[in-house]
Amino acid sequence: MLDKIISLAKRRGFIFQSSEIYGGISGFWDYGPLGVELKNNIKKNWWKEIVYTQDNIVGIDAAIIMNPIVWERSGHVKSFVDLLVECKKCHHRFRQDKIEKNFCPNCQKVTNFTEPKKFNILTEVFLGVTEPKQKAYLRGEITQGVFVNFKNVVNSTRLKIPFGIAQIGKAFRNEITPGNFTFRSREFEQMEIEYFIYPNEKEGEKWFSFWKEERLKWYLKLGFKKENLRFREHLPKERAHYARRAIDIEYKAPFGWSEFEGIHHRGDWDMRSHNITYYDTERKEEYFPWVIESSAGVDRVILFLLLDSYYEDEKNKRVVLKFIPELAPIKIAIFPLLANKKNIVEKAKEIYRNLKKYFPTAWDDRGNIGKRYYAQDEIGTPFCVTVDFQSLDDDTVTIRFRDTTEQIRIKKTNLIDYFFDQFKNY
Ligand code: GAP
Repeated sequence: MLDKIISLAKRRGFIFQSSEIYGGISGFWDYGPLGVELKNNIKKNWWKEIVYTQDNIVGIDAAIIMNPIVWERSGHVKSFVDLLVECKKCHHRFRQDKIEKNFCPNCQKVTNFTEPKKFNILTEVFLGVTEPKQKAYLRGEITQGVFVNFKNVVNSTRLKIPFGIAQIGKAFRNEITPGNFTFRSREFEQMEIEYFIYPNEKEGEKWFSFWKEERLKWYLKLGFKKENLRFREHLPKERAHYARRAIDIEYKAPFGWSEFEGIHHRGDWDMRSHNITYYDTERKEEYFPWVIESSAGVDRVILFLLLDSYYEDEKNKRVVLKFIPELAPIKIAIFPLLANKKNIVEKAKEIYRNLKKYFPTAWDDRGNIGKRYYAQDEIGTPFCVTVDFQSLDDDTVTIRFRDTTEQIRIKKTNLIDYFFDQFKNY
């Protein structure tokens, strides 16, 4: 299944290997013409759901490189580590937590491994032109940009606790074993909410459960099948250094249940580490707020969405990506029934130019109409509009629906209103 998705992603322009012409580079991926549309739609949907729909949440966009002190104080320089072991036979290296009972995934048998070594996964960069250059880090999580701006946001808005700060952006980790396509990459994008609350257990419990449920609902709204999603609470030894509690939303991937997003109770770890207090004017009290976090990976949403939407329609011998219309990279495709009939082509072109002003719209006049429908089904386009001979007589066109393959006829003049209604949540 994963191989089918990797092949479709490349063939149709969703995801390409980074720097492929030079043999690629492990853990880096590029998004193609359809991939970038899908990615933008997911981020837009998340932003709408979090920043515009929830109460008391604002967004920011912080820099990727920060003062390196941030990473010392946050504990990442000391504790953002993976334990690495090496197979004594084939010398392949693995994360220790990914090895079970001394079984080497490369040799495909039980072997001996070296003692685990600590390996920090922050990516170092060097700034300036003269030696010694200043060492800094590409951010390992986008989160710290929120904490260092906490005071700026409080002072420039009217927000009062409880409130949230949301952000979307790139993060970098020097992963030991990138793999499973984009699942574990070295450069990836996160969508996060840091929700600041009054520091007591009852509030902590309330907001932790609130975000856990809200976030699961979002994946269901995106069309994910319920049976492919579950919660999994981290054992104390699995938790990141900052977390008092952690629950993952997991997806049933072909390579096993895998983390989609983490809901973390960070307590006052970060606020205390950076010494950032909040003065509560209602309680007349100064304190370190507690933080409940939701941290989702854009690339994992894309990968799991491709897997979850993929459908092989045996009856019609076609492959369909059953994206909800809001997420589909192309919303509508326009076809002239025959590419060599001037009147039909002109009418179809006029419709294409009109719709394109409002919705991502594709034009296709190659091959037979059935093949054109199937090509759109395979990239998840929900609607195809065909201009045929009847269109010349009565100014109607057909709309064909991706999932059912049914068709309706509609007046050309009603098309824009019809699609505005279909995409009112877009
Ligand atoms: N701020 C908290 C944080 O970063 P995390 O559980 O380490 O928590 C959150 O990461 C999410 O970021 C994960 O659930 C996943 O979706 C995404 N993510 C983490 N590492 C990744 C990687 N190497 N490749 C792709 N996505 C990753």
